Amino acid sequence: MLNIALLGFGVVGSGTAEVLTENERLITARCGEQVNVKYILDLREFPDHPLGNRVVHDIDIILNDPEITLVAEMMGGSHPAYEFTAAALSAGKHVVTSNKEVVATFGVELLALARQHHVRYLFEASVGGGIPIIRPMQTDLASNEIIAVSGILNGTTNFILTKMKNEGAEFATVLKEAQAKGYAEANPTADVEGIDAARKIVILAALAYGVLLDPKTIPTLGITGITGLHTATAQKLGCAVKLIGHTERINGKIYAGVSPYLVPASNPISHVDDVYNGILVDTNMLGRALFYGAGAGKLPTASAVVADIIDILSHRAEERRLPDWRSATAEDVAERGEYACRRCYVIAGCPKCAEKARTLLGGESYISVEDGKYAIVSRVMRENEAEAALADSGLELLTCLPVLD
Ligand code: HSE
Repeated sequence: MLNIALLGFGVVGSGTAEVLTENERLITARCGEQVNVKYILDLREFPDHPLGNRVVHDIDIILNDPEITLVAEMMGGSHPAYEFTAAALSAGKHVVTSNKEVVATFGVELLALARQHHVRYLFEASVGGGIPIIRPMQTDLASNEIIAVSGILNGTTNFILTKMKNEGAEFATVLKEAQAKGYAEANPTADVEGIDAARKIVILAALAYGVLLDPKTIPTLGITGITGLHTATAQKLGCAVKLIGHTERINGKIYAGVSPYLVPASNPISHVDDVYNGILVDTNMLGRALFYGAGAGKLPTASAVVADIIDILSHRAEERRLPDWRSATAEDVAERGEYACRRCYVIAGCPKCAEKARTLLGGESYISVEDGKYAIVSRVMRENEAEAALADSGLELLTCLPVLD
């Protein structure tokens, strides 16, 4: 019997128990022994749940039990999840987590702690819900240099954007639906303001480049500023508006950011709808790979948590290499203005103004979005180059969105 403890019995925690029960036979076969949830740590009681008698309220019961070799942390939030994780690793217990906030903020320290205590700290469920992305980046793509990672990394906002586009639904109504379905964070501001996606892109950037950026410092824009003008522009250009996390190296430095983008129909990401996530990884040998699947929700996320549990329990005798990250310094970080891509600018004015903007931005053409509003897609330019080009033009800029090619 392999005894484990679950920290947190909310959406993902209860989903993890469900996956372990539902797929018990195959999980036992893969681990070589039965996996038993000996403890569930939560503030609440669950008298009606079959595992309700496993609930404890004191982390020390788990930390002091030598039978517990693995802890699955699904509490969400930084505290006390970080403290409990550090204590479990220090007590020589493996930890798996779905908690992107903790990984993105304390990943360097926790991985070092895991190495020091010869245990593993795995976090497949922290990015992309159930989509395999963390392990493939470390294993299957290990022979490649990662050129860039771009993706729809938040299921809640993709669900909202899809419903708003297809059904003309109201933002607040769809957000409530996303919360009811267990997609949104406890505080959905993290979803709609792009903060959740920022945490996820810094984790992917760390996997790609070995350096963990501070998620609070990367350029982050959510979907609350998306208006009818953006959706009308997207429609006219044959694009979808998607919230994208992007990272790449620029002159040896790392750029990472989150923003709504226009995604042309030619890019498979533009067709990733509802709660699904899609992550494009551009590499120097394989080329472009697309990872796609359910990006949030109870069982998809629990599926990834249990995959980490099986990975650890099925390789008990082996010491496995963990990513060796370091924290970013100011010298590691590329300025936002250095990031080059095509951008769509919408200006107010007349066709003459639109033609002037097109020339300044090196665009191929301009289109009319609404009366007196024109959209121009620039050539690939650094943001500061485009800003300089428009600076003294006298043009009235209404909005600008990057384009994901
Ligand atoms: N709130 C997150 C999302 C959950 O919507 O993507 C999965 O990380």
